[in-house]
Amino acid sequence: MNLLPRNSDGCPFLILAPMEGVGDRSFRKAMASIGGFDESVRDFLRVPSNAHVKSLARQYESDEIAPIPLAAQLMGSDPELMAEMAIEMQSRGATRIDLNCGCPSNTVTGRGAGSSLLKEPSYLNKIAKAMVQAVTIPVTAKLRSGFNDTSLFKENLLAAEESGIAYLTLHPRTKIDGYGPPARWDLIAEAKSILKIPVVGNGDILTVKDALKMLDETCCDALMIGRGSVINPFIFHEIKAHFSGVPYEKKWSALVHFFNVYLSSIPLEIPEKTRVNKMKQLMSFLFKGNEKLLEKKQDILKFGEKNVSAFLDFALPELQKAF
Ligand SMILES: Cc1cc2nc3c(=O)[nH]c(=O)nc-3n(C[C@H](O)[C@H](O)[C@H](O)COP(=O)(O)O)c2cc1C
Repeated sequence: MNLLPRNSDGCPFLILAPMEGVGDRSFRKAMASIGGFDESVRDFLRVPSNAHVKSLARQYESDEIAPIPLAAQLMGSDPELMAEMAIEMQSRGATRIDLNCGCPSNTVTGRGAGSSLLKEPSYLNKIAKAMVQAVTIPVTAKLRSGFNDTSLFKENLLAAEESGIAYLTLHPRTKIDGYGPPARWDLIAEAKSILKIPVVGNGDILTVKDALKMLDETCCDALMIGRGSVINPFIFHEIKAHFSGVPYEKKWSALVHFFNVYLSSIPLEIPEKTRVNKMKQLMSFLFKGNEKLLEKKQDILKFGEKNVSAFLDFALPELQKAF
């Protein structure tokens, strides 16, 4: 079965990236209200060595953005626990489980998970294999291009493939790169030439032009977009429109709905001030994609209101002027 089917018009399979913190449940729900992507990946569930598998698994809701599928992502370094967790995710309705081999956070890498797996291809292979063998649904992996450098790039790709994963996503920056230097799309092309399994291209797609350029330069099988979707929540529709030839008209009302869904999906126990700050965090991305909005950035982000509806009464008309 092709897990990354193209549309009949040639549009590649589009995935909303996992983004811990920014791309939480509220964000995914808001994005689903606009739509345009074929699948999303939940931000990682960290599986520490003392993990209580069943209670940890409750954080994952497979139908969170139904009918759009939501893959689960696991981050950990104990093969047995990761396999147990994979079983739990499958029983909770996951349609795919992704192994995180990219998180650069030092608290994570210090314990041998996330991007640390890239230091030891055989260990990456062992964990991925344990997960693959534990479940019947597809297991995939999301890799950076290396830890300190790309010296183990090829070994990591082949170790991941040998484990039996269905495909991999490549964010072509090393752990040391963080999010700084441009993503090296040439490495996505290289991965395509090395591997038999499909490769999802990821990193620095901010516009339709970028998406087309990545497809052209790398021949990747599908696209994953993270920050580009926070900067422009309509990006997936815009890519789809390019292929279908039917223009997509982004509507202000859809963006207002997006904000409303976002707000209403924040758990009730979250204090009002935190809600305002979450809204500001979300909006701070929108400024990056719009020069007219950039002029309003300071006014909006410095707005001292602790009440979220008062904040929106101020911010939305300002945003609308630049829409
Ligand atoms: C705030 C933030 C949180 C992230 N959290 C995760 C995560 O939980 N799991 C993961 O595999 N990647 C995570 N990433 C990496 C993204 O999924 C993606 O690989 C990276 O941002 C490059 O893609 P982009 O340029 O489209 O954003 C995160 C990125 C950001 C900016």
